[in-house]
Amino acid sequence: MRTFATRTGVRLPLLGQGTWEMGAADRASEVAALRLGFDLGLVLVDTAEMYAHGGAEEVVGAAIQGRREEVFLVSKVLPGNASRLGTIAAAERSLRRLKTDCIDLYLLHWAGPHPLRATLEAFQQLREQGKIRDYGVSNFDVDEMVAAEESPHGSGVCANQVFYNLGRRGIERRLMPWCIDRGIAIMAYSPLEQGRLRETKSLRRVAARHGVTPAQVALAWTLRVDGVVTLVKAARAEHVRENAAAADIALSADDLAELDAEFPRPQRDVPLDTL
Ligand SMILES: NC(=O)c1ccc[n+]([C@@H]2O[C@H](COP(=O)([O-])OP(=O)(O)OC[C@H]3O[C@@H](n4cnc5c(N)ncnc54)[C@H](OP(=O)(O)O)[C@@H]3O)[C@@H](O)[C@H]2O)c1
Repeated sequence: MRTFATRTGVRLPLLGQGTWEMGAADRASEVAALRLGFDLGLVLVDTAEMYAHGGAEEVVGAAIQGRREEVFLVSKVLPGNASRLGTIAAAERSLRRLKTDCIDLYLLHWAGPHPLRATLEAFQQLREQGKIRDYGVSNFDVDEMVAAEESPHGSGVCANQVFYNLGRRGIERRLMPWCIDRGIAIMAYSPLEQGRLRETKSLRRVAARHGVTPAQVALAWTLRVDGVVTLVKAARAEHVRENAAAADIALSADDLAELDAEFPRPQRDVPLDTL
């Protein structure tokens, strides 16, 4: 799996597994799906205390048993918990659910009521205690990234997780270059628009040329940028297999031009898309 080296020195695999909506229903098959993904090289797994009120972290905790060393673990603190002491308590609860002693990358889920400097101070303390290795943010637009950069410990922010797919290209104008030029990874969530990405003519044509599915083309498209980590959630084994194989699809200049024509980049700056 290709990786992106952030400014803090961590190497992030460019394709990883999401867990939103896991932890509520069929946990055994979700654990199996995540483990199949690890077998196929999708070793980065993204979760959050928010997902199923901790249920998704429990699923991840079960999936990584006996395999912790293979896996790159990402979780997130809810903004309402992200005071200095609240962040530390939230991380400790997450570690218990994840059944591990360290989270590789810990993110603030979105900007909330607590001052960012308090969250960053907690992140720094958690890092010194060995409870997290790296930290970052999520759903931050450029102005919020600038404010983070100017905060104490802001230079430790190594990732910003945002909504990005063929139909959500606003970040290409400013946020994506701003982050990647500084060695801050963009982590693209909902690359399939939560399974609702339209199977348009261009997606179908490009997919047919490569002998793959439109969903795989959509993943290959976000994977085309070094510095963008693609997070895709799949509970079904056939989806996990397709997604892992998408890492090997190289889109040509003609493929990209055809997709651009149907999914144009915005002509002017637009606010950050969020779910
Ligand atoms: N930071 C944030 O605010 C934020 C927000 C949203 C998401 N995220 C993270 O990003 C991850 C990915 O985003 P997401 O879950 O919102 O949406 P997504 O990955 O775009 O879409 C997931 C949906 O697509 C289906 N799917 C997966 N692979 C497929 C394939 N090869 N062909 C057809 N359908 C396929 C899945 O079905 P099955 O499950 O049935 O296989 C599921 O219904 C999340 O799980 C979460 O970890 C973060």
